[in-house]
Amino acid sequence: MCGIVGYIGSKEAFPILIKGLKRLEYRGYDSAGVALLNNKGELNVYKTKGKVKSLEAYCNHKDTTGTIGIAHTRWATHGEPNDKNAHPHYSQSESIALIHNGIIENYLSIKKLLIREGYTFKSDTDTEVLVQAIEYIKSRYDLSLFDAVKRTLKFVIGAYAIGVIEKNNPNCIIAARKGSPLIIGIGEGEFFLGSDATPIIEYTSDVVYLNDEEVVKLERGKKIEVNNLNDEAVHHDIITIKLELCDIEKAGYPHFMLKEIFEQSRSLAMCMNGRLNMELKEIKLSGIINHIDKFRDAKRIIITACGTSWHAGLIGKYLFEEFCRIPVDIEVASEFRYRDPVINKGDILIPISQSGETADTLAAMDLAKSQGAFIYGICNVVGSSIARGTDSGTYTHAGPEIGVASTKAFTTQVTVLIMMAVSIGRELGTLCESRYKQIVGELSNITTKIEETFMLASEIERISSVFTYARNFMYLGRGYNYPVALEGALKLKEISYIHAEGYPAAEMKHGPIALIDEEMPIVVVSPKLKIYDKVVSNVQEIKARKGKIIAIVTKGDVDIKKMADFCIEIPDTEECLTPLLTVIPLQFLSYYIARIKGRDVDQPRNLAKSVTVE
Ligand code: F6R
Repeated sequence: MCGIVGYIGSKEAFPILIKGLKRLEYRGYDSAGVALLNNKGELNVYKTKGKVKSLEAYCNHKDTTGTIGIAHTRWATHGEPNDKNAHPHYSQSESIALIHNGIIENYLSIKKLLIREGYTFKSDTDTEVLVQAIEYIKSRYDLSLFDAVKRTLKFVIGAYAIGVIEKNNPNCIIAARKGSPLIIGIGEGEFFLGSDATPIIEYTSDVVYLNDEEVVKLERGKKIEVNNLNDEAVHHDIITIKLELCDIEKAGYPHFMLKEIFEQSRSLAMCMNGRLNMELKEIKLSGIINHIDKFRDAKRIIITACGTSWHAGLIGKYLFEEFCRIPVDIEVASEFRYRDPVINKGDILIPISQSGETADTLAAMDLAKSQGAFIYGICNVVGSSIARGTDSGTYTHAGPEIGVASTKAFTTQVTVLIMMAVSIGRELGTLCESRYKQIVGELSNITTKIEETFMLASEIERISSVFTYARNFMYLGRGYNYPVALEGALKLKEISYIHAEGYPAAEMKHGPIALIDEEMPIVVVSPKLKIYDKVVSNVQEIKARKGKIIAIVTKGDVDIKKMADFCIEIPDTEECLTPLLTVIPLQFLSYYIARIKGRDVDQPRNLAKSVTVE
């Protein structure tokens, strides 16, 4: 989704802004732009459809001087992706420029009022309405830009992260947020704006996270000044973030996605670090220890999330029900938030989100919180909106995930859910000590087994080259591996644009079986399971209809191997841990198919990394 960068200081702003936009490219976008204030007092806006590279080329031979500027990558919502709808947008007099991430829901009514006042519009966007409204309020009430932004935002319904600069005010950037992410970087005599930390960390690790409905003034030579919309000063501590530049670079890999697939042994190790004691075979999650009574009293757990995080949540349902005997409802956040759900006292809501900024998950969390649920979050991005809105939680510590297709976020989310479920189960007495030790012991070995699974990459690359012809794929799994089948199908469609469906294997005969012919590839995720024999029967049904079977099985498998056209063997492990291994071949499969087909793996069409609009 849209990316925001801003700079004010003593350096030339343009190179910093362009580099920042490139660092935010992973979020997905369709146009880019920049606004700069030069030392002649001119406010120049340059913007164009397409990639940041096109913007750079467009700016060649233009005046890109200035030590203050704002820049933006746009993911279209209101109005198609083109030059005129790209940000920044000028105000009517072209003396104010603004960038925006989010949606102004009441923009049409504000636009009507402004048209009545003689304002004209060059774009189809809600953003242009906002900058015009700021100019109108500023001149009508004779306010400073800071005050005008605050006054305008009081009338705004919707979500925003904005950066604003003004021609006659070369010493200050105004920024604000509500519901969309925005971070302020604080350097030596300079300030930065970023949708996340990636455009900032090269320059400073000191940041401030704004809260909703806060407006900040970043003025040269002064301290950061934050107000709420009622003009009250708000104090923020400066937070030091732990993020290295190498975490957000490709490190020799052709794509971030491949780097992140191979990072999974390390990210799981980080996720378990300080939590899993391998010698004692014990797990200690502080969030769980501090709130065990909540889980002891819980009548129900509700898990909510979107996309890949929702698939991790589905595995959470199997885990909590098996080990804790607590009933679990799992629901996609966009449905949950608008369904008028029944939330009882004693319910625990677990929002799961890599970015911690997904609009629907955030809204679902806020809804459950307002109705008295205890919120236990699972997030990757430290300091994100969801992380800050929870009562407690566990970070996944996967490190930055840049590839749009989620990989290491999924496996670390599942790891957190496993650690939570077995710790709670042990405390509740629903998981006996010997079984607890068995699972924890096996979890201690999982990173080695993940590394063994990496060895399958070249074999899967070879298999992938056979299936680039396919227009459809089916993915089947049962139990803990049913959500893995869904995840495999999602990965394939996202980056290769091949239609793929995931099903519980036994559902196949209730409809999807009609699709099977000798051209149809069917990926069966069937490691050693309690109901392995049932899956064998499902595979026989496919074989009888000549489907092309790619099976993910446990090393030493006999029955499915006999029937499969291609067999990928993963190391043996506890059934509840198998998703951590079975998903890896599926990630490779989608990656190699997409790569062979020449797709843009890291920035697939139409997709955004952090979905900050509903
Ligand atoms: C799939 C993918 C998306 C995200 C979804 C939720 O590869 O990346 O489906 O999983 O948009 O995002 P988060 O986890 O950031 O809330």
